[in-house]
Amino acid sequence: MADVRIQGVAKRYGDRAVLADLDLVIPDGECFTLLGPSGCGKTVLLRLVAGFETPAAGRISLGEVIVADAADGTMVPPNERGIGMVFQDYAVWPHMTVADNVAYPLKLARVPVEDLRRRTQAAVEMVGLKGMETRLPSELSGGQQQRVALARALVSEPRLLLLDEPLNNLDANLREEMRFEIKSLQKTLGVTVFYVTHDQEIALGISDRVAVMDAKGRLRQIGTPEEIYERPADAFVFGFLGLANFLPVRRDASGWRVGADGPAWTEAPPDLGDETLFAGFRPSDVILSREGEGLAGTVIRASFLGAMMDYLIDVGGTSIRAALNSHDCLDKGLMFAEGEACRVGLAAFHWFPHTSLEDAQ
Ligand SMILES: Nc1ncnc2c1ncn2[C@@H]1O[C@H](COP(=O)(O)OP(=O)(O)OP(=O)(O)O)[C@@H](O)[C@H]1O
Ligand SMILES: [Mg+2]
Repeated sequence: MADVRIQGVAKRYGDRAVLADLDLVIPDGECFTLLGPSGCGKTVLLRLVAGFETPAAGRISLGEVIVADAADGTMVPPNERGIGMVFQDYAVWPHMTVADNVAYPLKLARVPVEDLRRRTQAAVEMVGLKGMETRLPSELSGGQQQRVALARALVSEPRLLLLDEPLNNLDANLREEMRFEIKSLQKTLGVTVFYVTHDQEIALGISDRVAVMDAKGRLRQIGTPEEIYERPADAFVFGFLGLANFLPVRRDASGWRVGADGPAWTEAPPDLGDETLFAGFRPSDVILSREGEGLAGTVIRASFLGAMMDYLIDVGGTSIRAALNSHDCLDKGLMFAEGEACRVGLAAFHWFPHTSLEDAQ
């Protein structure tokens, strides 16, 4: 069993608190992603789990074993935690062949040579590098080097795999391919994966569950990719999961309207105890028309991006982005020019209180 249990963990550098009172449980066999902005403490948390950092408070357990406990000073060294790791700068050793790189952890653990050869070969094949065993990293592409790092992390048959932005240095196509491969390896091996990234597409694409962390190292929401995307806990989560528009909707004497003197908002928002609320929606949630229903707007910018039209539209003093299928725009006479009037409808949106928007973007 390799469930990861993080209880009340804190980490400080000098007087700067990076993590405070953090609780997180990753069940055995889960592919779990921690998603958060740069500098929020993702790498620090992985290093705490790996054993390269000591928590200032709290306890970390892997399965039945407490590996770190600030209360009594328990600190199991990294090589005794049964963990495989691929770090941000996946660093394979340049002077060693693929096979030697992959075999290295087994060599350190003094695994007998026959066993070492067999397991190294299995790990090399698992990541699709069969036939490249004698190559040096300089003779490999970035994606292949990444596979070496992955094989090296898996060769010791870890109970837990920690992945710190392992796909950062790859181009978009390769990143997508590796994403699927990591996911399928994880399912085949049944290993628990703790993945950290600031890339929401990777997080949504790879994970059984995702935790969203804000810049101050606080967890805002934990759920399946569908849950956090469809039911964001707050504006920060919504804003972090993709391009987001926020329209301010204010109460005045005559009812509700957009901004100070924008178009009227006909259906009253839920009572969140605020005089100004924000309607949050994605560019793809916008339904455009030339007249009729919808909020009156003006097209500020129209960009043809091939498959999509990307419009910037002023609605009551707020600029919003709209993404529409180009074919649809052509078919329905919705190729707007800059300066033209339009109507904005929303296929879906979420209400957010004023306060939750302050640190949303
Ligand atoms: N050894 C250290 N000494 C002092 N401060 C540190 C140390 N390691 C990390 N920090 C600080 O802790 C904070 C969190 O760093 P961390 O590396 O965990 O961010 P991250 O979420 O991994 O960001 P990124 O997405 O850019 O990799 C940062 O403000 C960083 O400067
Ligand atoms: Mg990091």
